[in-house]
Amino acid sequence: MELFRVTGGTPLVGEVTVSGAKNSVLKLMAASLLVEGRTVLTNVPRILDVTIMSEVLRRLGCEAALEGDTLTIDVPAVPGTEADYNLVRRMRASINVLGPLLARRGEVRVPHPGGDAIGSRGLDYHIAGLERMGAEITSEHGFVVARASRLHGARIWLDFPSVGATENILMAAVLAKGTTVIDNAAREPDIVDICSMLKEMGAEISGAGTSTLEIEGVEELRPVTHRTVPDRIVSGTWAFAAAITQGDIIVRRGEPRHLEIALDKLNQAGAHIDLLDPMQPGEGFRVRMDRRPKAVDIVTLPYPGFATDMLPMAITLGAVADGPSMVTENVFDARFMFINEMLRLGADVRTDGHHAVVRGKTWLSGAPVKATDIRAGVGLVIAGLRADGVTEVADAFHIDRGYPDFLSQMRGLGATIERIKVEDDEFPAV
Ligand code: EPU
Repeated sequence: MELFRVTGGTPLVGEVTVSGAKNSVLKLMAASLLVEGRTVLTNVPRILDVTIMSEVLRRLGCEAALEGDTLTIDVPAVPGTEADYNLVRRMRASINVLGPLLARRGEVRVPHPGGDAIGSRGLDYHIAGLERMGAEITSEHGFVVARASRLHGARIWLDFPSVGATENILMAAVLAKGTTVIDNAAREPDIVDICSMLKEMGAEISGAGTSTLEIEGVEELRPVTHRTVPDRIVSGTWAFAAAITQGDIIVRRGEPRHLEIALDKLNQAGAHIDLLDPMQPGEGFRVRMDRRPKAVDIVTLPYPGFATDMLPMAITLGAVADGPSMVTENVFDARFMFINEMLRLGADVRTDGHHAVVRGKTWLSGAPVKATDIRAGVGLVIAGLRADGVTEVADAFHIDRGYPDFLSQMRGLGATIERIKVEDDEFPAV
């Protein structure tokens, strides 16, 4: 087992460059299955999840090679139809092969990915949407099995603007016969990115970035080269890290237009936020905090609301802010699980249902803690920077799943941090 050992007390100062979004590139990789031939993705982050998704594609008969930030995927004329159980278990995003393979092959078997440490994560919206398009879907021995000789267009209302369901239905609809309308669709920049790639491939889609997506099915698509949208969650993480540690970080290629509420919250907390180039906001921004942050209330919601993936950063900000704040989680039912680890660091947090009341302290107190998911892991490392003494964050692999070059970026910003291998039982029970 590997852990991050952080010594608190140093503000993060310097610059980082943000690469492509994990939650976009994994779906762009799945979309490559829609067409035979070579898809090239650029601005690809070097993270564990990209490695896992590459392996999912290989087991379906594709070739996938990452050189620098360019991922080349060669898809055969007849890709496989069964996703590997162990890989899907390790990474839920592999469920995104369901829509494209169903559209392309008329049959697919994907292991049920189950829930995880942030909560139960159903597939009912994915399934109901694909069934409306003519698929027959059954659950067989832990697999979701979907069949359809040819999908047809349908009008689909999502109960909740689910990112994954919107993507699976969208990727199935581009090759279906007729028109599909997805109402209450997710609006995340990741959805806009995948719509852009699908349109470059020849798909007919309107409404990307709004709650209503209209897709006119086409007979076939062509493979393309596509650049991945920058990672707004990584950008937002660095922005919050600057404020929490009372530092000064330039977030190059962070897209402020994808982070409006998050940056506004930091502004209310007392941070100074400047665009690097007001004429080209996508160049990035700078966040400076020269005093203890003021407490601000934060509510997570689907985009354009404050991202649930930033919840650990919101709690950590509150934990060191001046005054009490209320943080409300509206997307996942167990995202507060990591708060137990924050309590070990001396944070004063009390939860009631999906609300957390956080009473800020000037300093937290370093302790051994455990990453329960990607974002909680990073939130705990950042909390450790604002803690007295040493904090050890176990299960470092979670952070590898979503943050490229995390250790070197942290060190580049002045953090005292190292990565250490330990025998599992060397680490105290957490
Ligand atoms: N939901 C259902 N039924 C469904 C689908 C979703 O009940 O059929 C519920 C979920 O249980 C959850 C809510 O709807 O309560 C939202 O889930 P959504 O489908 O939007 O999430 P996802 O597609 O599974 C993606 C990201 C998550 C991110 C969420 C919300 C990927 C690979 N994952 O998950 O990212 O938190 O959207 O923005 O894109 C992360 O990167 O650390 C991460 C967890």
